[in-house]
Amino acid sequence: MNKQFFNPNPEFAKNARVGSMEAYHELMNEAKKDYEGFWAKRADEKIDWLAPYSKVLDESDAPFYKWFIDGKLNVSNQCIDRHLADKGDKTAILFEGDRGDVEKITYSQLSQRVNKFANLLKNRFRVKRGDRVVLYMPMIPEAAYAMLACARIGAIHSIVFGGFSSEALKERIKDASAKLVITADGAYRKGKPYLLKPVVDKALEGDIECVEAVLVVQRNHEDITWVDGRDYNYCDMIDDESDICEAEAMDSEDPLFLLYTSGSTGKPKGVQHSTAGYILWAQMTMEWVFDVQGDDVFWCTADIGWITGHTYIVYGPLSAGTTTVMFEGVPTYPDAGRAWKMCQDHKITQFYTAPTAIRVLHKMGKDEPTKYDLSALKVLGTVGEPIDPPAWKWYHEVVGQGRCAIVDTWWQTETGGHMISPLPGATPIKPASATFALPGIMAEVIEEDGTPKKIGETGLLCITKPWPSMIRNIWGDAKRFKKAYFGDVEKDGKPLYFSGDGAVIDEQGYITITGRVDDVINVSGHRMGSAEIEAVVKEDDYVAEVAVVGRPHEIKGESIFIYIVLKQEQEKDMVKHINNLLSQNIGNIAKADDIVIVAGLPKTRSGKIMRRILRSIAKGEAITQDISTLEDPSVVKQIEEAVKNS
Ligand code: PRX
Repeated sequence: MNKQFFNPNPEFAKNARVGSMEAYHELMNEAKKDYEGFWAKRADEKIDWLAPYSKVLDESDAPFYKWFIDGKLNVSNQCIDRHLADKGDKTAILFEGDRGDVEKITYSQLSQRVNKFANLLKNRFRVKRGDRVVLYMPMIPEAAYAMLACARIGAIHSIVFGGFSSEALKERIKDASAKLVITADGAYRKGKPYLLKPVVDKALEGDIECVEAVLVVQRNHEDITWVDGRDYNYCDMIDDESDICEAEAMDSEDPLFLLYTSGSTGKPKGVQHSTAGYILWAQMTMEWVFDVQGDDVFWCTADIGWITGHTYIVYGPLSAGTTTVMFEGVPTYPDAGRAWKMCQDHKITQFYTAPTAIRVLHKMGKDEPTKYDLSALKVLGTVGEPIDPPAWKWYHEVVGQGRCAIVDTWWQTETGGHMISPLPGATPIKPASATFALPGIMAEVIEEDGTPKKIGETGLLCITKPWPSMIRNIWGDAKRFKKAYFGDVEKDGKPLYFSGDGAVIDEQGYITITGRVDDVINVSGHRMGSAEIEAVVKEDDYVAEVAVVGRPHEIKGESIFIYIVLKQEQEKDMVKHINNLLSQNIGNIAKADDIVIVAGLPKTRSGKIMRRILRSIAKGEAITQDISTLEDPSVVKQIEEAVKNS
């Protein structure tokens, strides 16, 4: 790229909430000077407290930080009720179905539907405050109603992405000990119906005692199996409920939701988020990073099964009182212009997607955006993985017509909302850099012992101070929570939060994310734990040993690469066999692009698999590291040969 910086559009900056770097530094200095005061000011401004908090931050039991102690609020109140007086007729959710059907749900209608849903949960299913409800839902408005209905009565939702298999769903239902599962018969994708309910039926086979009922929304009116006494039809029941349901006064620290994500070890972790801190930051980042204002129409293309969908389809936009777009389909169907046609038809002002999607849209139709009127677009966002310069350039020049700011937002399931990102009216953007920590967020790049890394050197990305929307715990596993995120390194006597990502800071202070430093693979912006995949493959009768690594992929960012040592030679098509296994046990997203059968794995004398070597071989790199410490150095050559011949 010939220009190093892209300055904010002055027209946009004039009306932006943060309109200059001076304003950014002012906010950051305010936070540095009086950290608790900074957050208290925002909490007072943004939250309609049902009872005031007595203390901003309690650090006495670090890393189990608590925010806004004793405060009472309700998230559905934040997202709906308080907007009714002046925004009742404004569209809250703009839904577009896969087949082009559009429904606009106003804030008043949203209120009625969420209240009815909340009453249904309370009255018919006896769902109480603190109960867990699993949602296995397609991208339809009822998914948002269900989330907000849970929030209204204080139930904790746990959404399982619709692409996960019945086994993965079962594991998550059991871990959360969910009382109710909410699903749909199916939905539409690429013009065709698909089914969800049979996956739930399969997940509930056998030893799941916690689930008392399954509530089914009929999206497709498919012929599905109904289990008497367990399955209930939402569409038949909802009209009988009253549209008035008082919002439960929740404690600031009550869990709002769980969301399972992959780590580098063991089974998925139920990331537990809070009520007050989470909703505060969801709204603040909507306002700062996307700068939503007035009649803006915001579209985040994520699925609600991921954190991006939670924070930037439902909780962020609605708490900010904006119009949020929810899309059932895929942005490339019926053709590569679908996303751009939607931007034109709905006059989208902020568009937020993943680099993978940008690469696909670019590849499938590089001139497609020029066929549509994209003049309403102001801010373009990316999330989930580093964006490569060619994708950035196309996004900026062709989609954004050189006019829109590109916000490369770095964050995680655990952080609840954006952490490092440009501010569209303030930050001079360097392509492919997430730029600076947001005001109030203290980020550092350090060595393992806590020493700050020098300028230009890659180190571990850490957050040195607790922030309101941070993960509170791993559901049912406080020990793992401490171990996974907080090492021995302390700052001001408090443990640091380790993100698991590497990053580098340049001489101007710009932060660039370099990718995971642990064994997590980022496939199309989705986190896959190599240990989780290995655990599935290891169970197979034919497999003696397995190692899973990531390999750079032109479209997906990274793809899954599996090395297998067999117990004995096989006639069987092992590639197909292993991928079927992964699809059944995790979901299609866990399928590998490469599965290579090798004679042995590179191990140290103590038996540790040297993944670095396997990663290099998968990438086709020459092995430069010292292999003399391996138990059997000759294995490296054999593996290289096997990969070459595969
Ligand atoms: O590695 C980072 C990458 O995605 C991981 C978080 O994944 P997940 O919890 O599934 O949440 C994804 C959506 C927030 C991070 O540890 N990541 C996320 N955003 C970026 C990124 N990598 C580079 N640049 C980003 N903007």
